[in-house]
Amino acid sequence: QSSLQVPAFSLILLIGVSGAGKSTFARRHFLPTEVISSDHCRALITDNENDQSATGDAFELLHWLAAKRLQRRRLTVIDATNVQADARQSLIDLGQQFNCPLVAIVLDMPEQVLNDRRKTRTDRSFADPVLHRQRRDLWLWTRYLEYEGFSTVYRLKSADEVDQIQVVRQS
Ligand code: GTP
Ligand code: MG
Repeated sequence: QSSLQVPAFSLILLIGVSGAGKSTFARRHFLPTEVISSDHCRALITDNENDQSATGDAFELLHWLAAKRLQRRRLTVIDATNVQADARQSLIDLGQQFNCPLVAIVLDMPEQVLNDRRKTRTDRSFADPVLHRQRRDLWLWTRYLEYEGFSTVYRLKSADEVDQIQVVRQS
């Protein structure tokens, strides 16, 4: 079993396309209150976590919540796709504003795994072009995370790897 070391106070961005397992990972390794999910923020505003028209408001709420937590030096996990560099930038700025170490956990699952999960998933379905764009963004825009300001980058490339992982908080 391998471990992902994270500072006890850190801003952790989960990065991955829809179905990569971000929410599952967040549930398994963190307290519900430590996780801020863009879908949950959408739901808080519109009662519907799939209402894409609320995306702008949802991210405003997400940022506001994250800022309040970081101000109190609480470990904070962002559960959003975060596949594009410009989507990450404002969160990186936020972390830096609070002198908070930034951790990226990339769930970079093989296409086969994503396709299999999509077939069996009942809570959500995305059209092929959306997933395709997300996959392309992940591939293009997550190569230089260290240069973006992340002090630690973990990239998990298989479901097995994700299964074996343990998150260890450094004090
Ligand atoms: P979005 O919220 O749409 O961006 O997806 P997500 O990245 O949050 O994925 P989520 O955690 O909801 O997982 C999607 C599907 O994959 C669910 O049906 C999960 O049960 C399944 N899944 C996620 N992680 C794992 C895993 O590690 N192993 C297995 N076997 N299934 C997983
Ligand atoms: Mg999710």
